[in-house]
Amino acid sequence: MKSRITHVFLFFPIFLFLVLALSVFAQKKAPEVMTLKVEGGKLAPVPFPHALHAEKHKIQCSKCHHKEPDPTQPELCIKCHPVKDAKEGVPLFKDAYHKLCIDCHKEVVAKGNKAPTKCTECHKK
Ligand code: HEC
Ligand code: HEC
Ligand code: HEC
Ligand code: HEC
Repeated sequence: MKSRITHVFLFFPIFLFLVLALSVFAQKKAPEVMTLKVEGGKLAPVPFPHALHAEKHKIQCSKCHHKEPDPTQPELCIKCHPVKDAKEGVPLFKDAYHKLCIDCHKEVVAKGNKAPTKCTECHKK
């Protein structure tokens, strides 16, 4: 009887540790830099310094991951923004990206700072 109780006390912390460790591995981690490219896209892929935006400039996760129950664990944009056959009121993949990225960059430029707003500044060859 005594030894059974000891076992419970011994194994519970180990069990707890495993559960915590697993949940950490299951978390998505925000990437440092990304290259954005839709399958079948014709233009050059777009470099996206994720950490520059999310960490250095401290833009809220929810500004871009805007429909998430937990914006730190986002779905890919393409899950909701299809490449073609638009759903009512939901912008297509390309338009969603352009609206998000370019609208903000225009504001940045209007304040006298630098951010890409021209096609070839993002779709670099
Ligand atoms: C601020 C950055 C940015 C600017 C400026 C920009 N784009 Fe994009 N564009 C993107 C991102 C991000 C995507 C989605 C990822 C991808 O597939 O390239 C995209 C996707 C696209 C796509 C669909 C994918 C493909 O390769 O066929 C086209 C077409 C496109 N852009 C055209 C343009 C044109 C034309 C301009 C200039 C009028 C422009 N873009 C300006 C960021 C930008
Ligand atoms: C300026 C816009 C922007 C901000 C701010 C931002 N993200 Fe992102 N993030 C993106 C884009 C765009 C992607 C690529 C999504 C795709 O490929 O569909 C991405 C991808 C991710 C991914 C990878 C998702 C996957 O399944 O591969 C994670 C995790 C993530 N972001 C977490 C965060 C966290 C946490 C924050 C806040 C600290 C944050 N993001 C802030 C734009 C942003
Ligand atoms: C879970 C579904 C979902 C995901 C994931 C998602 N969106 Fe959206 N998005 C929507 C819906 C639905 C709308 C339609 C307008 C609304 O309800 O805000 C929308 C609208 C938008 C708009 C237009 C907002 C406006 O004010 O006109 C932009 C820009 C946008 N999404 C960009 C993105 C980008 C970029 C990503 C990936 C980083 C993304 N979305 C991920 C569902 C999603
Ligand atoms: C809410 C504002 C905001 C949004 C949304 C945003 N950006 Fe930016 N972006 C910035 C700012 C601010 C800078 C200037 C950073 C600097 O000079 O330090 C910048 C700079 C950049 C640069 C240039 C980095 C360099 O090293 O010069 C790239 C590339 C870029 N953004 C890509 C994107 C793409 C692609 C998206 C859409 C997925 C996006 N950004 C969305 C605010 C934004």
